[in-house]
Amino acid sequence: MQKKDIFVSDEELNVQRDFAQKVKEIANKKYGRPKANIRTFGCQQNVADSQRIMGMLKDMGYDFVDNSDDADLVIFNTCAVREHAEDRVFGNVGTLVHLKRRKPNTVIGLCGCMMQQEHISKRIKRSFPHVDLVFGTHVVHKLPEMLFKVLSGQGRIFENPDIDGVIAEKIPQVNDSKINGWLPIMYGCNNFCTYCIVPYVRGRERSRNPEDIIADLKEMVANGIKNITLLGQNVNSYDGGITFAELLRKCNEVDGDFVIRFMTSHPKDCSEELLYAMAECQKVEKHLHLPVQSGSSRVLKAMNRHYNRENYLSLVDKAKELMPDLMLTSDIIVGFPSETYEEVKETISLIEKVRYQSLFTFIYSKRKGTPAAEMPDDVSSTEKGKRFRELLAVQEKISEEICKEQVGKTYRVLVEETSRIKGNLYGRTLNNFIVEFEGSEDLVGKFAEIKITSGDTWIIKGKLKG
Ligand code: 5AD
Ligand code: SF4
Repeated sequence: MQKKDIFVSDEELNVQRDFAQKVKEIANKKYGRPKANIRTFGCQQNVADSQRIMGMLKDMGYDFVDNSDDADLVIFNTCAVREHAEDRVFGNVGTLVHLKRRKPNTVIGLCGCMMQQEHISKRIKRSFPHVDLVFGTHVVHKLPEMLFKVLSGQGRIFENPDIDGVIAEKIPQVNDSKINGWLPIMYGCNNFCTYCIVPYVRGRERSRNPEDIIADLKEMVANGIKNITLLGQNVNSYDGGITFAELLRKCNEVDGDFVIRFMTSHPKDCSEELLYAMAECQKVEKHLHLPVQSGSSRVLKAMNRHYNRENYLSLVDKAKELMPDLMLTSDIIVGFPSETYEEVKETISLIEKVRYQSLFTFIYSKRKGTPAAEMPDDVSSTEKGKRFRELLAVQEKISEEICKEQVGKTYRVLVEETSRIKGNLYGRTLNNFIVEFEGSEDLVGKFAEIKITSGDTWIIKGKLKG
């Protein structure tokens, strides 16, 4: 595909703006001031998509409510990465039948990764007749047109074309947070890890232009956003005419006091150039989320990860050498088909070598259409559960030790929220520690210097420096 073909044209976006005006008129007549309830499952990419869905809806005259009972439009933005997430969506969609009976004019829509799968959208069509609108990940920008069709009585709409994916710029957004901003820099994934559904539902890798990214970043900074996370399934394969490391340096040059975070880095593409950029850019977090998935080279090969235990460990050594304060986090899968107990032990020994700050741990979930779904598996789920808990216990101990090692240090933290316990605030350090301390609410959204006095398992506590 030619790069220019990836971008949705201005004409197409203008067509959608016209549809948005039509929806505004119809919805106003039908509901008075229409209200929407958007519920997001899954990862930050979905959160970013939901912010655009809300941006378009706002242009169509919708207000937002937290409860589906009060809404004229309900949209679930779904996740397909594990079976459990899908089951939750099916359960929640099932209960919406009562809402539809009570208020037949309510429009029910489903979108996101789950809906990009043909077998899922067929099941919705067959078994959930109260759902009016189903759309996949590649047509989010066409929401005005799809909603127009539903509201003007053209029947149920199912739109999830199986294409490589597009980039739609200049879609309005609603961001409820005054502190955090999610900034997609690329979409899709070309890696086809054998367990993972993402490449099938998010299409091929495509990168936004650096100028568009920087313009969004500047706008966020101008709006007071302090914690900006650059998003991509594999940010290290960013290719917008410059490398990801170069993009980080450009972001770092933007004026203002803010933090630049990013996720996710694939170890096979994590370059030394990136590590140097991280080390040298003062606004960039000193935290690397570097999913290893397994500590066994045999399992990594079966997963199609394109690195082995040794490559990974030397990458970690290099990163730690360049950034003494660096904290690492990771994703781990236990129970990949045919994984033995000895191989889980290899993962545990890798965890002990790297000493992660924290982990996102998952039990393998079979995803229809992926190569791993066809692989034989002879390990019971009870045994997988036992191995999983053994691994968690090791990590818990390491996390606690690392937290305790912070006592006596002084950190600059971005204060993110207040706790329900009066007087407590939570902030985050550049290297990803959550810090609890006492202080007044007007510190939220600002930076503060905190001297660390104690460490728990997952958070550290400290005192505001006067
Ligand atoms: N089963 C369990 N975990 C999975 N992940 C992706 N696919 C699966 C699956 N089929 C995990 C990986 C990935 C994270 C986002 O989700 O660890 O890094
Ligand atoms: Fe899935 Fe692998 Fe792509 Fe990550 S890199 S989204 S785990 S296929």
